[in-house]
Parts: sequence; C-alpha cells; structure tokens
Amino acid sequence: MQRFDGKVVIVTGAGSGIGAGTARRFAAEGASVVLTGRTREKLERTAADLPADRCLVHPADVSQLEQVEALVAAAVSRFGRLDVLVNNAGVAPGGRVHEASVDDWRQVMSIDLDGVFYGCRAALPELMKTRGSIINVSSVSGLGADWNMAFYNAAKGAVTNLTRAMALDYGRDGVRVNAVCPSLTRTDLTEDMMADEALIAKFRERIALGRVAEPDDIAAAIAFLASDDARFVTGVNLPVDGGLSASNGQPPQ
Ligand SMILES: NC(=O)c1ccc[n+]([C@@H]2O[C@H](COP(=O)([O-])OP(=O)(O)OC[C@H]3O[C@@H](n4cnc5c(N)ncnc54)[C@H](O)[C@@H]3O)[C@@H](O)[C@H]2O)c1
Repeated sequence: MQRFDGKVVIVTGAGSGIGAGTARRFAAEGASVVLTGRTREKLERTAADLPADRCLVHPADVSQLEQVEALVAAAVSRFGRLDVLVNNAGVAPGGRVHEASVDDWRQVMSIDLDGVFYGCRAALPELMKTRGSIINVSSVSGLGADWNMAFYNAAKGAVTNLTRAMALDYGRDGVRVNAVCPSLTRTDLTEDMMADEALIAKFRERIALGRVAEPDDIAAAIAFLASDDARFVTGVNLPVDGGLSASNGQPPQ
C-alpha cells in the first residue's frame, strides 16, 4: 500500500525542475499524475519516466483561466477525480521597481499569482468532493525579501498569504491548503546562478545544512504535505531551505 494509491494529482510546471521531480515522486508513490506546462515536448520528457496508464500530459498556460479550467476537466474526465493540486509553475525575473516596465510586473503576477488563483478556483469544486489538498510552491522569497527581485517577492508573498487565507476558508470543507518555501534549488530557473561558483559559495555559507537544494528535496516535502501523514496540517508555509530562514540574516562567524 502506497500513500497515493488511487489518488489523482495535477502538477503545474511539470516539464522541468521541482515540478518534474514532484510528478516522479507522486507517481512512485502510486498516484495518477496530470502533467501540465506550456511546452508539450518538455512534459513528454517527464512523462517518459512515469507509468503510461497513470499519466496524462495536458499542456496549459497557467496564466489563462480557460486553459486551467480545461486542464481540471481533462484530469477528471481521464481519471474520474482530483485529490491534489500542486501549483508549481513559476518564473523569477529580477529587477528594481523604478526600472521595471508595467509588462514586467504583469508577467510575473499573471504566472506566479494569477496562475495559483486560477488553479485553485478551477480545482476547488473537485477537491471539496474528495476532501483533497492544495500545495502551492511559494519560496523563501515569499517569506522575506531578496535584493533585486521585487516583483517576485511581491508575487510569492501574496501566494504565502493566499495559502493561509484559503486554509481558513476551506478547512470545514475538508480541503487542506499548504505551501512549501524552497531556498535556492538546482533547476532550469537557477542554471546561470549555479554556474557562478563564488555566488553559490555565498549561498552555502548561509544555509545551515551547507548545500543548495535538489528538486527531490522539495518534492519530498510536497508529497508529505499532500499525504495523510499531514492530515492535521493546513495553512502552513513550510520552509524547505536547509535552515536558511532559521538565521536572522547576520553572517556566520
Ligand atoms: N529553483 C529555485 O531556486 C526555487 C526556489 C524557490 C521557489 N521556486 C519556485 O519553484 C517553482 C518551480 O520552479 P523551478 O525552480 O523548478 O524552475 P523551472 O524553470 O525548472 O520550472 C518552472 C516550470 O514552470 C513552467 N512555466 C512557466 N510559466 C508557465 C506558465 N505560464 N504556464 C505553465 N507553466 C509555466 C516552466 O516552463 C517550467 O517548466 C516556481 O514557482 C519557482 O518560483 C524555485
């Protein structure tokens, strides 16, 4: 008996990084997994490692409500139910406020925040039927600020508090809503940073466990929050950060 036997999970941004790792983790624990993102080829690559009878590839742009509604409908049509939504798709542009265009702001808000809202709005009627759960992929950047990442900080900060608010609003319906807040994780999003050894050394210095995260580290925490092991956990923004946020920000001595 595995934790997600008979359960159906949607993972957004499943073509790479944390989303791909999360899809693999849920599939390994028995779930049927619906993979979504904008690029079919990337999703097919993730799907190649999963059992074909428990996997559906359905491309969608999370910033488009109609596409997200069609995604949920496709998941239920194929597998008959929905138990878990992982709102993982995201972008992380840099920039200071006075240098940003309105389009820069709208782009990150439409994917990182509207995308979460659309996913939850579309999935909640199904999740209330199954007493399922939502896991949002926020960030340590949604708990505190970074230098030069104001729009990302604003979007992830909103996801952090949306998570708490929805936990209150849907607890009586049996739906739990939690978020993970990863620190720097080795994915496509951080490829350039990872290549900068001096920069990574500075990150490592501030992380108690002394290393950056791998996608599977984050996937394991997502699976825990979605599982019955976390049945009395809701409204939590769980740092999955090797101890980074345990620090008050002063450098190690
Ligand atoms: N990598 C890190 O250091 C880190 C740290 C904290 C939080 N996060 C968050 O983790 C999540 C996953 O990022 P990742 O690091 O795995 O990067 P990634 O780039 O590998 O994955 C993000 C995925 O989202 C998809 N995506 C982007 N816009 C989309 C849209 N409009 N519709 C559908 N899919 C879209 C991308 O194609 C990509 O496959 C993001 O929300 C990110 O903000 C990442």
